[in-house]
Amino acid sequence: TDFYAVIGNPVAHSKSPWIHAEFSRQTGQDMQYEAILAPVNAFPATVAVFRERGGKGMNVTVPFKLEACKLAGRLTERADAAQAVNTLVFNADGTLGANTDGAGLVRDIMVNLGFSLTGKRVLLMGAGGAARGVVLPLLEHDPSILAIVNRTQQKAHALQQQFSCYGTIVSGDYADILGEKFDLVINATSASLKGELPPLSPGIFAAESLAYDMMYGDGYTPFLQFAKQQGASRLADGIGMLVEQAAESFFLWRGVRPETGPIIKMLKLHT
Ligand code: ATR
Repeated sequence: TDFYAVIGNPVAHSKSPWIHAEFSRQTGQDMQYEAILAPVNAFPATVAVFRERGGKGMNVTVPFKLEACKLAGRLTERADAAQAVNTLVFNADGTLGANTDGAGLVRDIMVNLGFSLTGKRVLLMGAGGAARGVVLPLLEHDPSILAIVNRTQQKAHALQQQFSCYGTIVSGDYADILGEKFDLVINATSASLKGELPPLSPGIFAAESLAYDMMYGDGYTPFLQFAKQQGASRLADGIGMLVEQAAESFFLWRGVRPETGPIIKMLKLHT
């Protein structure tokens, strides 16, 4: 049996152990996956103990994604660009740090929701860790423009500068997009966690648009409620992304791609 875990603080609420148990059952992989609560000041030591017990890989969640970058000997391009690692792979010759969040988001949007990004006007709200992790994977699918807006606009500008060589990006605060319309509006802020709505102006949704909240909870988030009122054609919460990023991690560890559809369905029934 190979051992895996999600490490975070807090971590008790994590759905990852359930998701990976379903993946391993489905694919017949001989593995176990647990949740590990690390003291905020003892991330490296907690990882080391898990490795000594024979751990083969970990998912990393709040607040350790940046620290996991430093711990990994080698980073994938995406993890390096995001300066955040959500997946560690322990190999005999060292530790690889990867970031599967962006790939998970893009796969949910393109494969599960059947929404093509190419040539589309995309609005990304937020400029924290969650936003930074998805910029590069979004740009890889050639949207006509990626607008990044944030309350604190300097942080949006910084992201624009970091990624401008990969595609057309504009940045600013919420007032700067007054009167603009977008085909895809992604909420990468933490507003939904607090029951808040980013200060979006009405009329932001183009015809046939998709509203995507990277967060999820009971029922619609405030952003998805707003999107519904504003006539967005389709609404999606972050459950699909959650399962898809898990599947990408599972693939990195086991070389096998689990089927995500049934798992997403089950989770949606229970949230
Ligand atoms: P994460 O890693 O989840 O992105 P973070 O780095 O703390 O967390 O970033 C939180 C993001 O949500 C930021 O972009 C923050 O905006 P500011 O940088 O201006 O603080 C954004 N955010 C949080 N609450 C918000 C709200 N009510 N309206 C708009 N943006 C909000």
